[in-house]
Amino acid sequence: MKAQHTLLLFTLAAAFSQMASAQDDSYGTLPARPFTQDFQARGIAGLERLQEDSVQAACNHWAPRSVVQALEQAQLAAIKFPADGKFLGDWKAGEKIAQKGGGMTWSDKAGTENGGNCYNCHQLSKAETSFGTIGPSLNQYGALRGNSPEIQKYTYSKIFNAKAYNLCSTMPRFGHAGALTEKQIKDLVALLLDPESPVNKK
Ligand code: HEC
Repeated sequence: MKAQHTLLLFTLAAAFSQMASAQDDSYGTLPARPFTQDFQARGIAGLERLQEDSVQAACNHWAPRSVVQALEQAQLAAIKFPADGKFLGDWKAGEKIAQKGGGMTWSDKAGTENGGNCYNCHQLSKAETSFGTIGPSLNQYGALRGNSPEIQKYTYSKIFNAKAYNLCSTMPRFGHAGALTEKQIKDLVALLLDPESPVNKK
């Protein structure tokens, strides 16, 4: 019993001294610390994903409006458009990608296609009743906006890099980060815009 007591006190003391030294850290670096200390590279999940790029740095800390706008412009200019100039793929494949949440973990093999996890944040097809509300509902997206070349291009670009339009958006940069392929993004554009897609059915 006594030994256990001493161990408990020792652990508490160690924890408090860690908390004291943690207070010296700036607010910005502290939250990142457990990740850099505890994560290990394994399989396809490398540690490079912990490195902030200029966009994340501007949003995690602070940046003046002029810098935010310049970064948005640079993100927009870096969007890679399909070589064949076509934005619409297959909505049925798009629905599967929107449903699928997996990918990019250490147990995934290199080259495995990732999911888009869209339902995690958005409502899309009415038939799927399990969806998150971090992002706006995309139900009736195409029915409301039409299917013009401009809307197709915007939708492709937004999925490729949401932060090109809204720098500190919480939506992942699917194309920019290499999480989704060009074909997968086209399939998602079709899911949102094809009149036959369940997204646009009443
Ligand atoms: C982590 C949450 C999250 C995920 C996952 C996510 N989004 Fe978003 N999305 C958002 C948020 C938040 C917004 C609104 C803010 C903004 O414009 O960036 C948004 C906006 C959008 C818009 C713009 C809507 C408009 O009115 O112009 C589209 C299109 C979109 N998302 C499609 C998708 C698709 C397709 C997927 C899956 C590949 C997806 N999103 C996954 C959070 C998410």
